[in-house]
Amino acid sequence: MSILEKMSSTDAIALEKKYGAHNYHPLPVVLNRGEGVFVWDLEDRKYYDFLSAYSAINQGHCHPKIVDALISQSKKLTLTSRAFHNDMLGQYEEYACQLFGFDKLLPMNTGAEAVETALKVCRKWAYEKKGIVANEAQIIVCENNFHGRTTTIISFSNDPVARENFGPFTDGFIKIEYNNLKALQTTLESNSNIAGFLVEPIQGEAGVYVPSENYLTKAKALCEKHNVLFIADEVQTGIARTGKMLAVDHENVTPDILILGKALSGGVYPVSAVLANNEVMEVIHPGNHGSTFGGNPIAAAVAMAALKVVKDEHLAQNALELGELFRTEMNAYIANSTIVKKVRGKGLLNAILINDTEDSSTAWEICMALKNNGLLAKPTHGNIIRFAPPLVMNKEQLLDCVSIIKNTLQSFEK
Ligand SMILES: Cc1ncc(COP(=O)(O)O)c(C=O)c1O
Repeated sequence: MSILEKMSSTDAIALEKKYGAHNYHPLPVVLNRGEGVFVWDLEDRKYYDFLSAYSAINQGHCHPKIVDALISQSKKLTLTSRAFHNDMLGQYEEYACQLFGFDKLLPMNTGAEAVETALKVCRKWAYEKKGIVANEAQIIVCENNFHGRTTTIISFSNDPVARENFGPFTDGFIKIEYNNLKALQTTLESNSNIAGFLVEPIQGEAGVYVPSENYLTKAKALCEKHNVLFIADEVQTGIARTGKMLAVDHENVTPDILILGKALSGGVYPVSAVLANNEVMEVIHPGNHGSTFGGNPIAAAVAMAALKVVKDEHLAQNALELGELFRTEMNAYIANSTIVKKVRGKGLLNAILINDTEDSSTAWEICMALKNNGLLAKPTHGNIIRFAPPLVMNKEQLLDCVSIIKNTLQSFEK
């Protein structure tokens, strides 16, 4: 195809299929433009984005203030590495630390890198502060977790597809059932080598599992009792997605280590971060950890702009209110539905459970029909569809989406 010819969606998909590794199974739609809650494909069909790049686009597509920050910083200084200082990093670190209430921030790029960073900080703290014998530290994780794709992280995943033929795996993790305080207590009581407890405040990838009320509060108290670091992975749940700035804020829990990513940059640039107080972060010294791009001036400018948008536009409050409305509307539909069993979630992180076997393709087919009706969403594991629109959505748009979803589901009712 000549570069002067206009590319069709079919052409774009064929190119990816031929030259790209097949590590994803995307919905067959080729996006070419986005603004706020909408995206357009190559044929100029308009869709509601009801996934927000897995909650990275909380501030909406191409938010002008975030894009302006990206452009103006790009024209001035893009990358220094950490061999030298840059004038943006400290300002961003101060802003984020004050906003989230921590002493220090360690900047990285992707969510998985931030999780790795948190695990390393936690282990080092365990040896140097808690006094665990060298190489004996254990970190408790939860079943059905999703924390990213690195070799260490998949070592404690129980998704066979994510692990198959990637071994040998990293030791030092103990898996317990999510939302099971007894299991946490027993593990903490029976093992004095526990350094940390890594947990998603809501399990997003697993299918938006919301734990019981006070689970996080009680888990944090157990960690405190046993001098174990409570590590909250808020890569997906953070930055207003669940109706508060952080999902742990619903229970007024302060993690010892906070992991942020995705919407920390409004989805325009990869930015992630680990935050902790001095007592923990001071175990990190020059040479212990780093990243060429982590803390670069563009990332710093973009993340500050992204966080300001969330605050100035009251996105947490909007997510809280629209989330309630969404679940009320869906519950009204489910009362007379055979195809949907349940809706669950918090704020604008929700999922519906499709009434079919785990291995059936019904959820996928519903997502295809939603796409044809102008709304983009994707199944998570099994027969669960996650709904996570940009938080800049207004009530009228949400109700429009609800009617698209209801009309689409209606065509699947038996
Ligand atoms: C809770 C959680 N942690 C970590 C990650 C990994 O983030 P990334 O894909 O940026 O590496 C994700 C991604 O979905 C996530 O949901």
